[in-house]
Amino acid sequence: MITTYEAAPDIDVLTSSFPVPGFGLIPINAFVLHAAEPVLIDTGAVVESDDFMTALQSVIDPADLRWIWLTHTDFDHIGSLHRLLGENPQIRVITTFLGVGIMGLSAPLPMDRVHLVNPGQTISVGDRSLTAMRPPTFDNPITTGLYDDRSGALFSADCFGALLAEVPQSAEDLSDDELHQGQVFWATVDSPWLHTVDPTPFAASLDEIRQLRPDLVLSSHLPAASGGSLERLLRSLETVPAAAPFVGPDQVALEQMLAGMTGSAPH
Ligand SMILES: [Fe+2]
Ligand SMILES: [Fe+2]
Repeated sequence: MITTYEAAPDIDVLTSSFPVPGFGLIPINAFVLHAAEPVLIDTGAVVESDDFMTALQSVIDPADLRWIWLTHTDFDHIGSLHRLLGENPQIRVITTFLGVGIMGLSAPLPMDRVHLVNPGQTISVGDRSLTAMRPPTFDNPITTGLYDDRSGALFSADCFGALLAEVPQSAEDLSDDELHQGQVFWATVDSPWLHTVDPTPFAASLDEIRQLRPDLVLSSHLPAASGGSLERLLRSLETVPAAAPFVGPDQVALEQMLAGMTGSAPH
């Protein structure tokens, strides 16, 4: 089920939580930025498109949208992309050259409805400028987050996500330990390359976010976080290169799980 909440007067969050069996819940967020030219940042998970459209209609008339900012093309971000493009001919999709290429392998984007950005480039949406940026961690080379100079919100794509036992509406409601453990676990799953990086340039990429001093951090996979939580978010990521790598359940574990499910099933 997808619910909505307001992260700022001009930003609505559309959120659902997906269980990762044996590990916890991962929030999946999309955002409506009520700019003069309204922007939808990501479009939910493919399996939840109907629910997503209902939730979206509760915070904006989809006919009013002018832009979809696609942070990347994973299945938890493109769920209602083509549906919205079909319904609203005014929407243009902000993505990268690589994003267009990857979408071309499944559901091509009409080229006259694409707006290409690279990290560092800025696009005006009427009453504010959105600057594309590559977040310090990501799972897909297409990934482009953005900074909104009016709200001070940083939309960080998968970066700063956390696997959680329960998902509150605000990251401030998570204890230091819950946030740290959840973030480290998620980062080892989502960005396993962090175990091979040189810590110095990685720390520099975290410092860039520190210097940006966003008022809000809006990750695709974390409850909304105020600027006051930024240091907690950054410190967790600093530890990931030295953290234990994630190893998923193997076939033996799967068979044990399936046997357990059969054993507990009613006869
Ligand atoms: Fe992703
Ligand atoms: Fe994601």
